[in-house]
Amino acid sequence: MSKSDKPVPVLAIDGPSGSGKGTISRVVAETLGWHLLDSGAIYRAVGYAAGMAGIDLSDAAAVTRCTETTKIVFRAPKDGGETHVIVNGHDATDEIRTETCGAAASAIAVIPAVRAALLDKQRSFRKAPGLVADGRDMGTVVFADAPYKVFLTASAEERARRRYKQLKEKGLAVTLSTLLREIEARDERDATRKVAPLRPATDAVIVDTTGMPVDEVVARVLAVVQSA
Ligand code: C5P
Repeated sequence: MSKSDKPVPVLAIDGPSGSGKGTISRVVAETLGWHLLDSGAIYRAVGYAAGMAGIDLSDAAAVTRCTETTKIVFRAPKDGGETHVIVNGHDATDEIRTETCGAAASAIAVIPAVRAALLDKQRSFRKAPGLVADGRDMGTVVFADAPYKVFLTASAEERARRRYKQLKEKGLAVTLSTLLREIEARDERDATRKVAPLRPATDAVIVDTTGMPVDEVVARVLAVVQSA
């Protein structure tokens, strides 16, 4: 990029698990014709790879080495549909969506060297005409210079219900009460970790999506970009 070039715009969409970030980010990216970064999938892929390698998730040095050597490829099917996540050559699209992988992702995400090792990979998604970046620290750390920032929230009960529906549709055996407990535990860990804790950027627009239909959330988020 030359000095006169404007930086590629980024819309950072952060929020806790089940706040609707995934769906909203996908629809907004499609509407704007921008690229999409699902940063949670990257953390999940590393959690998955570490689990497959039998690494103790509290062993920071081993998990960091694993992060540096794990090959993560996003493959969008030509006919549309869900993007596949290939981890070290294995299609782990479904495996990384389990709550076990979510918990593993959250455990490795507290390690500062892991977060640092993933910065370049995440930033490499910033390509013209723009990027919608979905995560926990998109607006605060990875794309702190993003011109557009949104923080999505919803009550823990509503987020657990949404997750329940998603996982059931995938045929996974889960109960609502277990999911609620897991979501609360994950939120607590994500919000209280020392590095890049889950919190809204000071310049983020906060949208509480409790009881709000997807179309309305999409309209609110698009308005942040279009009214700027
Ligand atoms: O968004 P998703 O539920 O897929 O993320 C899984 C976990 O990965 C989160 O609970 C969080 O611990 C971690 N994560 C993170 N920073 C991001 C995205 C995800 O720490 N930008």
